[in-house]
Amino acid sequence: MTNTKSELLKSFMQACRDRVEQALDRRLPPADKLPARLHQAMRYSVLDGGKRLRPILTYATGQALEIPLDTLNGPACAVEFIHAYSLIHDDLPAMDDDDLRRGKPTCHVKFDEATAILAGDALQTLAFEVLATDPEMKVGANQRVAMIDCLAKASGSNGMVGGQAIDLMSVGLQLDLPALEMMHIYKTGALIRASVRLAALAHPALDPDMAERLDHYAKCIGLAFQIQDDILDEEGDTATLGKTQGKDRAQNKPTYPALLGMNGAKQKAREMHEDALASLQPLGDKADLLRTLSLFIIQRHN
Ligand code: IPE
Ligand code: IPE
Ligand code: MG
Ligand code: MG
Ligand code: MG
Repeated sequence: MTNTKSELLKSFMQACRDRVEQALDRRLPPADKLPARLHQAMRYSVLDGGKRLRPILTYATGQALEIPLDTLNGPACAVEFIHAYSLIHDDLPAMDDDDLRRGKPTCHVKFDEATAILAGDALQTLAFEVLATDPEMKVGANQRVAMIDCLAKASGSNGMVGGQAIDLMSVGLQLDLPALEMMHIYKTGALIRASVRLAALAHPALDPDMAERLDHYAKCIGLAFQIQDDILDEEGDTATLGKTQGKDRAQNKPTYPALLGMNGAKQKAREMHEDALASLQPLGDKADLLRTLSLFIIQRHN
């Protein structure tokens, strides 16, 4: 890729980040509105942090499909609200019991456990309220329903929540590769897949082959994302990660490096990246940002 092209892509990613930060801020309840402590906890966990990878994927898919980005502010926020809620609950004592997230105390440490549970609950419902009513979304009622359905399925017992249940049930067990892959596809892959699909659903008449190709891309990068998360838990450092390094090993979690070794895990992530790129082949230059994001996922340090 030429330097100018990679600079352009980098600045598009930064523009997406800025766009979603503002969109999230506008859609969150004000910090002084009652119940203020709950609203402060919601804002604390959503704003000022995070790579915003899922919203960026929504915008990048929209850019590839020539969908106006304002229409995607609602879907981008909805998926980030679900993600933020999943992190708040993931960090609770009953789950991973973490005290550091995005370089700051976790929500239940900063506030308290009950407030953290409620902030997660409220962010979850806010996500669906946004999809149902967001005024910037210039889509038909059927499209809105399809988006709500997509995000609900990705978040529920056959998606993120199901993956979290498998994760917690599997502590101390030696999962085989298909079981580990299923856990990763559910707990992380489902929401990443939804980030791409929500943008595809904003297209009024997307060619089914194109939809299928984007979906396959998203499945591959979703798995690669959690493999890299497992690798970084082993190889990263707490300051760069913004979360405590080495927790998976300490808590005896089933991970890709634990099952395949570090080289095997890295190889699998690269294979997923290659598979993702192959799926985008017919999209030509328009999918450059999606390609860059796939590479970013397997090369990231946090
Ligand atoms: C962390 O997700 C949790 C996983 C699903 C592995 P991210 O790495 O996207 O977290 P932020 O949003 O950048 O903090
Ligand atoms: C969490 O996976 C995935 C979700 C929050 C759904 P991890 O437990 O590995 O995420 P981190 O490492 O705490 O960010
Ligand atoms: Mg976890
Ligand atoms: Mg965790
Ligand atoms: Mg992890």
